[in-house]
Amino acid sequence: MLSYRHSFHAGNFADVLKHIVLIKILEHLRIKDKAFCCIDTHAGAGKYELDSEYAQKNKEFQNGVGALWQLDNLPGAVADYVRVIKSFNATDTLNTYPGSPLIIKQLLRQQDHLFAHELHPTEIELLNLAIKNDRRITVQHTDGLKNTLGLLPPKANRGLVLIDPSYEIKSDYETVVEYLFKFYKRFSHGTFALWYPVVDRSRNIQLENAIKSSPLKNVQLYELGLKADTTEHGMTASGMIVINPPWTLATELQDTLPYLANTLGLENAGHYRIETLVAE
Ligand SMILES: C[S@@+](CC[C@H](N)C(=O)[O-])C[C@H]1O[C@@H](n2cnc3c(N)ncnc32)[C@H](O)[C@@H]1O
Repeated sequence: MLSYRHSFHAGNFADVLKHIVLIKILEHLRIKDKAFCCIDTHAGAGKYELDSEYAQKNKEFQNGVGALWQLDNLPGAVADYVRVIKSFNATDTLNTYPGSPLIIKQLLRQQDHLFAHELHPTEIELLNLAIKNDRRITVQHTDGLKNTLGLLPPKANRGLVLIDPSYEIKSDYETVVEYLFKFYKRFSHGTFALWYPVVDRSRNIQLENAIKSSPLKNVQLYELGLKADTTEHGMTASGMIVINPPWTLATELQDTLPYLANTLGLENAGHYRIETLVAE
């Protein structure tokens, strides 16, 4: 039974880092004319209204995209991200937040393709409405991890798989890594971006160790935290583990992550990591 609704969290600090990394990877894929394929295993609803009851409940977007929205002199990657989000808002007021499939849709060219998966019965309806009819995009109401196995390697033979589970059940941490290994076996030169939360650090250590002792190569980790790890309930940090990242990504994030940790961190406790988990 799926209970997670991304509308409570859309545009929060975790989405900021996730979507900055997503945009940077897509920009890199766009450098070559050759078509690319993007697979979003956990797409969500696609579009979020920030004045909705859900978003207003904890107003998580305020210490995320909302805190960056009106700032000047943003580091390049943050400025690019804010520009993309602004393009979904007709005025200077932040009302709408695009989820990963809409961000990808905006950066697809005529020759590219997106496969977007969503399992939740309400979210899939919203996703279909958000995507509208677009011959470049296939939306599927199915298990994104299982279905992706059959899509790899993609016809275009270059591209990105974004894996963004909600980690509703603890075994998600293991399941996601098992699928990542299978995906990599079929498409070892593709780029894979796995989002993770930091709720109980021991789970992250297990996940990182599983990756370090696996056949995966060229793996980087980027993490942004608002406060120190704690045993209390709640997410203190989140990150992206990227396999075969664009070679420029770590350097670009060297400016971005300290800035975000300073700007969004709580009580001066913001922190970040940029690490190579497995060398090339
Ligand atoms: C964190 S949200 C996705 C947010 C989205 N990627 C974004 O960045 O805007 C995770 C979504 O995955 C969906 N989901 C959970 N398990 C799934 C599965 N096995 N296959 C496809 N979707 C799944 C949930 O219903 C939820 O909408």
